[in-house]
Amino acid sequence: MNDTLPLATPLEDASDSDPLDDIEEASTRSFDLALHQSVYRFGRLYSVIHRDQHPWPIDELEQDRLEEQSILLCELFRGRLFLAPIESPRSVLDIKTGTGCWAIECADRHPASTVCGVDLVKMQHEWVPPNCEFFIDDICQPGWHTHYKDMEFIHISQIHGDRQLLSLLLEGSYSCCIPGGWVEICDMSVQLEESGENSPFHGFFRDIATAYARDGRQLNPPLHFGTELAQHGFVNVTAHSYLIPLCTEGCDQLMRGIVRNWAAGLEAYSLALMEKHLGKGYLETILLCASAREALRKGIKGVLQIQVVYGQKPGFN
Ligand SMILES: C[S@@+](CC[C@H](N)C(=O)[O-])C[C@H]1O[C@@H](n2cnc3c(N)ncnc32)[C@H](O)[C@@H]1O
Repeated sequence: MNDTLPLATPLEDASDSDPLDDIEEASTRSFDLALHQSVYRFGRLYSVIHRDQHPWPIDELEQDRLEEQSILLCELFRGRLFLAPIESPRSVLDIKTGTGCWAIECADRHPASTVCGVDLVKMQHEWVPPNCEFFIDDICQPGWHTHYKDMEFIHISQIHGDRQLLSLLLEGSYSCCIPGGWVEICDMSVQLEESGENSPFHGFFRDIATAYARDGRQLNPPLHFGTELAQHGFVNVTAHSYLIPLCTEGCDQLMRGIVRNWAAGLEAYSLALMEKHLGKGYLETILLCASAREALRKGIKGVLQIQVVYGQKPGFN
């Protein structure tokens, strides 16, 4: 799908005992830029230099899953790419653009707009519409926003529970947004009805919550997006919440697809953080994910909450 994916040397073995933390030993066959360095761990491809900021795979498997998720969410939003009340923004910034699929679609739909996608990792498509451009940039760096000016619409998706990053993002977005411009955040979280229950899914969920917390992340920041936007000076803050039952029996194809796509990412969400913070090896985590998915398939009470929140920069007439 993506021919810009960096070259890397696979480690021989992705078993429990793999000394996977030893990045030097991974002897990455990189291009000239560190940006391209990647390493196989747990049979998945990870960025080398950004593994603390982004401890999730960047391989084709994950890229395909994220692209499918983007299509499913667009369908959920009735064909809209964003919900903020702006028809055709002239300048758009897509932060944490990933493969850039959202930015490309936005550029195709709005040929008179200029669309920029920003990401830490180089994994964007090479063939892009003329009004779309990608930049490799670290939005954790102070002043990141100075490269992007006069944006009418800023799109942010998937904060991965990092509230500090969210704050930096909103500070920067406020600066590079024009008065009257909009910022929109889209993310998802799981809300369980009986969180104390003992199913393999609940057990997995408690483990991943602990691993995320030890990594300085929270699983429920989507619920705070409105407050965060208001605290950063945005007005007309509006939240839309879509609740997709985790038990998809009787649900339509779209809802089933969204839950299945999310569940297909359990390994991606958990492998690195479960090892780093809970000492769980590859096989243990793979088995936990498989059992959690099986329990989910049989029916878990709760919802996958998809939260879209937008706010406007004041100062317009
Ligand atoms: C879940 S993925 C992107 C999903 C994408 N928006 C989509 O809808 O397909 C999250 C992205 O955030 C990027 N990222 C993480 N930390 C970042 C940072 N500090 N600066 C820029 N991008 C970052 C990662 O490289 C990754 O591509």
